[in-house]
Amino acid sequence: MRPIQAAYPAARFRRVRRTDALRRLTQENLLAPGDLIWPLFVRDGVDVVEPIASMPGVARLSVDRVVRAAEEAAELGIPAVCLFPYTAADLRTEDCAEAWNPDNLANRAIRAIKSAVPQIAVMTDVALDPYNINGHDGLVRDGIILNDETVEALVKMALAQAEAGADILGPSDMMDGRIGAMRWALEGAGHKDVAILSYAAKYASAFYGPFRDAVGASGRLVGDKKTYQMNPANSDEALRLIERDLMEGADMVMVKPGMPYLDICRRVKDTFGVPTYAYQVSGEYAMIRGAAERGWINGEAAMMESLMGFKRAGCDGILSYFAPAAARLLSGLT
Ligand code: PBG
Repeated sequence: MRPIQAAYPAARFRRVRRTDALRRLTQENLLAPGDLIWPLFVRDGVDVVEPIASMPGVARLSVDRVVRAAEEAAELGIPAVCLFPYTAADLRTEDCAEAWNPDNLANRAIRAIKSAVPQIAVMTDVALDPYNINGHDGLVRDGIILNDETVEALVKMALAQAEAGADILGPSDMMDGRIGAMRWALEGAGHKDVAILSYAAKYASAFYGPFRDAVGASGRLVGDKKTYQMNPANSDEALRLIERDLMEGADMVMVKPGMPYLDICRRVKDTFGVPTYAYQVSGEYAMIRGAAERGWINGEAAMMESLMGFKRAGCDGILSYFAPAAARLLSGLT
């Protein structure tokens, strides 16, 4: 028997797409300024705004300018900023001691922000690359990235950041055992309320290029980071890393980069139901900005679509260099 040919389509999905009101009513996910974390690059000096060629619209800022950016974040409803220092060349050493200097650039910026705009959450980066003579996230001996010695250094670094007033520590180094070591040290030092957002599933990615320019690590990096960052071909491993970091005391977890790894975001959220973040990294930002500058895509629309993709994939928040521009658009402040 042939099925009876219906005279009309059984379902007309277009009915609820007909007007803006109907589209908004049936929208499944929302993006708000409260979902955004704004990464900022800090350098020394006063009143300095130094553009970064491979990241149009992003600059290295002196501490006073970073404070102004944090004030802007507060006005735009962005809850958090994340600090990355551009360390002077003579402070980059093999032992990375500047990383736990209580008065290093990052720690000075944390204090300045927390005293001027205390309601903004300050997130840090815990990794040795901005302080390392060879650009690696860990201590290097005879060409090997040392795990346990690095963890000891990272703990000192984390404690100095907590002491300076950081709200959220962001270990991005991918050493094994660092979350547990940091958590114990924080508890022992009376910093029981400092949160850890672990860069738990961080891939060895080509999309970090412009960031390495921004922190002055590009020319220095000897070799690659494949012995500690993840193989882009792996997915199950990401879940095991997330589980491990949660067991060790992470409060929030991150997948990085973002757009090529949305499948990982979804698996993490579905499996653990924990606060899940993605980092839309420098290369992703540069791709969208670069194409938009050439008139090849609509930059604003691509920015918003890319950020919504993270919400749809289950992320609770996104670290993105687009944070201020997106928040401005979302608040109708273009
Ligand atoms: C290093 C670090 C990197 C980024 C954040 N922390 C680079 C790297 O691992 O080489 C990349 C962020 C970006 O590309 O925007 N600890």
